[in-house]
Amino acid sequence: MATMEKMFITGGRRLEGVVQVSGGKNTAVAIIPATLLCDEPCTVENLPDIEDVHVLMQMLCALGAKVDFDGSAMRVDPRGVGCWQAPQKLSCRMRASSYLLGVLLGRFGRAQIPLPGGCDIGPRPVDQHIKAMRAMGASIEERFGVIHASAPEGMQGGDVYFDVVTVGGTINAMLAACRARGNTIIHNAAKEPHVVDLANFLNSMGARIKGAGTDVIRVRGQERLHGSTYAVIPDQIETGTLMIAAAASHGDVTITGCIPTHMESLSAKLLEMGAKVDERDDAIRVRSIGAHRAVNIKTQVYPGFPTDLQQPMTALLTTAKGTSLVTENIFEQRYKHLFEMQRMGAQVRVMDRVAVIEGTSALSGAPVYASDLRAGAALVIAGLMAEGVTEIGNVHFIDRGYEHLERKLAALGAKIERALVEL
Ligand code: UD1
Repeated sequence: MATMEKMFITGGRRLEGVVQVSGGKNTAVAIIPATLLCDEPCTVENLPDIEDVHVLMQMLCALGAKVDFDGSAMRVDPRGVGCWQAPQKLSCRMRASSYLLGVLLGRFGRAQIPLPGGCDIGPRPVDQHIKAMRAMGASIEERFGVIHASAPEGMQGGDVYFDVVTVGGTINAMLAACRARGNTIIHNAAKEPHVVDLANFLNSMGARIKGAGTDVIRVRGQERLHGSTYAVIPDQIETGTLMIAAAASHGDVTITGCIPTHMESLSAKLLEMGAKVDERDDAIRVRSIGAHRAVNIKTQVYPGFPTDLQQPMTALLTTAKGTSLVTENIFEQRYKHLFEMQRMGAQVRVMDRVAVIEGTSALSGAPVYASDLRAGAALVIAGLMAEGVTEIGNVHFIDRGYEHLERKLAALGAKIERALVEL
């Protein structure tokens, strides 16, 4: 008998109260593989207890590292790592497995990485990652879905010019460069908070990285890196998801432990829609009383509006007054969630990378399926807004990246439950 875990949300409850944000997923999935670059044990703190972190932990173990994780802090002893072949099945489960390319090349001058999996949000090429590794002296071939990379003399510092601003490519280039011989300059680098956080972590291990957070990053390669204890930054996307959920439920929610400056593009849009957003040093309060106004959104690299918040934001726009235009510039096919929301009464048209959303007075609960992680978050928000019960299938996608989302929303007053159902 086939079964599936589903989430059941009874909409129409106002979210109220205080909620603590977890450690950042996108930064965690870069920092955990980076621990293999050093020659001593490292402890990474404030990690979210999510599926992607568990998969990475299994990957590190498969490579020979000793790993202990207590649900928040992870201790990695990389001294037993002698293998440069990323495990096939685990790699296919997540995009961040691609970071092992820079890590293993940096440490061993060799890597075999299955082409990465992850969320189904359209094509996610790795040509720029490969270009960066070649600029640092690696020979790379792609055969039968596996990247074979080698630099028999070790990686050498070089000039890396990205044709597009890529977060993953920038991270991979920094990882490989910090143990390469000589200096690397990464031009047209991504400026996302997780790029800066990874650079801070690598520097805490003795790397010499300057300029992270600007579009030129300079790395002076080091022969050895030492162990470190480091806490990852709070999750920018979880913070944003909770901010949108607060507005969507016409609630009053204070999100603590976050970094408000990372949220400026979203805060500006919520204010434009008529919500109230108050920032303190490490907290954001979002309140909303009346109807929201439609707004236009264009996803951009940081500090622009993040593609990861496009999906949750579209849920809020389905009931805003007027017509919203959403342009997805990073992953043009990241709109599958909108077709699910149509079942809930959303008035949406998609033309290439533009979604046209006509605000409707209310959504109604329906059975829907998450197609990826942030699509799942978008459907949760739609469920909070809808009349009646929304039944969300494929909740395993949500577990990949949100720590205790139901528990946090329930504590704020949402009616949200999970159950195993027969198919
Ligand atoms: C993206 C997000 C990142 C988020 C992550 C996880 C951006 C810019 N990036 O990072 O913030 O944390 O998803 O959800 O918002 N590209 C190429 N060739 C490459 C690599 C990328 O053409 O080799 C293109 C992509 O197709 C895309 C753009 O560059 O259009 C940016 O992609 P990239 O930043 O690399 O994606 P992720 O690293 O997955």
